[in-house]
Amino acid sequence: MAKTSVPLVGFLLFSLLVATAQAGVEYMKYKDPRQPISKRIRDLTKRMNLDEKIGQMVQIDRQVATAAVMRDYKIGSILSGGGSIPRLQATPQEWINMVNGFQNGSLSTRLGIPMIYGIDAVHGHNNVYNATIFPHNVGLGATRDPDLVKRIGSATALEVRATGISYVFAPCIAVCRDPRWGRCYESYSEDPNIVRGMTDIIDGLQGEIPRGSPKGAPYVGGKDKVVACAKHFVGDGGTTKGINENDTVIDRHGLLSIHMPGYNAAIYKGVGTVMASYSSWNGVKMHANRELVTDFLKGALRFRGFVISDWQALDRMAYPVHANYTYSVLTAIQAGLDMIMVPYNYTEFIDTLIGLVTNNFIPMSRIDDAVRRILRVKFTLGLFENPMADESFVDQLGHQANRDLAREAVRKSLVLLKNGKIADEPMLPLPKNSSKILVAGSHADNLGNQCGGWTINWQGGDGNNLTAGTTILKGISEAVDPSTEIVYQENPDISYVKTNNFSYGIVVVGEASYAETAGDNLNLTIPLQGQNTIQSVCANIKCVVVLISGRPLVMMPHLELVDALVAAWLPGSEGQGVADVLFGDYGFSGKLPRTWFKTVEQLPMNVGDPNYDPLYPFGYGLTTQPVGHTS
Ligand code: GLC
Repeated sequence: MAKTSVPLVGFLLFSLLVATAQAGVEYMKYKDPRQPISKRIRDLTKRMNLDEKIGQMVQIDRQVATAAVMRDYKIGSILSGGGSIPRLQATPQEWINMVNGFQNGSLSTRLGIPMIYGIDAVHGHNNVYNATIFPHNVGLGATRDPDLVKRIGSATALEVRATGISYVFAPCIAVCRDPRWGRCYESYSEDPNIVRGMTDIIDGLQGEIPRGSPKGAPYVGGKDKVVACAKHFVGDGGTTKGINENDTVIDRHGLLSIHMPGYNAAIYKGVGTVMASYSSWNGVKMHANRELVTDFLKGALRFRGFVISDWQALDRMAYPVHANYTYSVLTAIQAGLDMIMVPYNYTEFIDTLIGLVTNNFIPMSRIDDAVRRILRVKFTLGLFENPMADESFVDQLGHQANRDLAREAVRKSLVLLKNGKIADEPMLPLPKNSSKILVAGSHADNLGNQCGGWTINWQGGDGNNLTAGTTILKGISEAVDPSTEIVYQENPDISYVKTNNFSYGIVVVGEASYAETAGDNLNLTIPLQGQNTIQSVCANIKCVVVLISGRPLVMMPHLELVDALVAAWLPGSEGQGVADVLFGDYGFSGKLPRTWFKTVEQLPMNVGDPNYDPLYPFGYGLTTQPVGHTS
């Protein structure tokens, strides 16, 4: 090779830099996708002033966001809180237009750092009208099928991308240890090993991290994938009596062996973000727990994505809410929180944090660590190269293939707890060619009830106008032979049940929709109307009860009366999955992901506990063979 080649290359490169400079276009390394992410982060962080750095640490709800706010305050992230939508039944295109509008504001800032938009897609893209609504996590835990939840993650990522969004606050990897907790249905199981297995959903949401990747670095595998969020760190499912946002009183071994395994698995999978829990561990708020957030999560577990707060969590660190706000900001940032879900009073948060930094209460090194983590996730996501929505996914929302997957998940989530009053006379599967079937109950023809909380609205809803889907009743009507008469009565009286020659009854009852603290419940009885329907039907004709609930409920008083009992959890939009199994197109295969107690006085009671005396134990579930199908 000619001796003069190296100097020549150097000369040419120098000439290029000079020419670029003369043209007035500075070469910005952070904008060069050929550069390693670490160099892009270093280059960009060097260029940022304090306002720009702190702006990146702020997440606001779309309700207070505008392009001007994004530009003027250099806000790093926007979210849709539960039910925060552009308008009722907004189309994917309207979502895209909204997200792109905010993004243009961010791109018009001095350094043009794109914002990241987050949303709770916790059982499908559940805020969005016509999205596929998958079974809530408790039902997925009953499937014992990590590959299924991985496929659900992939489908969810596509439907989220259909609306121009690229970040989801999922999966919830809580280990619910007391069903009195209003969020128990967001937990896959009381067993940490099942929860750990279900973190495969992250492989679906983000893409499967290549073997040999360094532990802890965030990973996103393409434009059809999204950034995930393991939540809520840590011990959210272990609070006293299941009181939401309360105190998890347990020794370190118990915390690490029960509530931590899911996080380690998620970090090995390259999860991009972790959300801190409102709850406390032995009296210390998780949002103020530096030892667990920084020393353990970021240190021992080597997590290199960013830690986000929960909604208004800093306001809730003190009592009354928002008291000692400055001290809450100080302790949360010093604990290791990187992005704060403010979500409304962003000017107060920004001013408070600027004051804490400029008065040397918080070192710039802590701010730089937070900013580096946020930028690492944004560079990994490809947000600098592709900040605007990719409209090629717009037809993925509610796609039939995703609905078919949800229907498969419903089938596999059903747990058969009782099948006939006499051992060798099983009631299920039901014959499709019966003369007349009574379908009864508040949850048979009610899409809102069968989807549960976090559906269109934060608390979910009631009735069939909430979103698109198939009710359990419709699924039953479509499953039986045309000669079979289906009669639906939500709450039939005894004489009606007795005098109409029904072959048998299908009673579909359960809990109304709820989310978070609204779901905290100390008695866990089936709502009275449901109890009355069970009594009026099952005392007079053969019946199968299909229970729609986020958790086990008190069944003892009704058990003698019912011929068959199915736990269907919160199945979501594809109610046909229930009929598929009731009528034998598929067999029952689900297993209890949680202990089914006899009385609430036994709680908390989990598999492995001493004096374990359940009605149905963890892992219980009867099976049936499909009729006329090869297995
Ligand atoms: C809620 C929940 C959290 C959710 C967040 C944003 O209060 O605790 O799971 O991701 O706020 O909606």
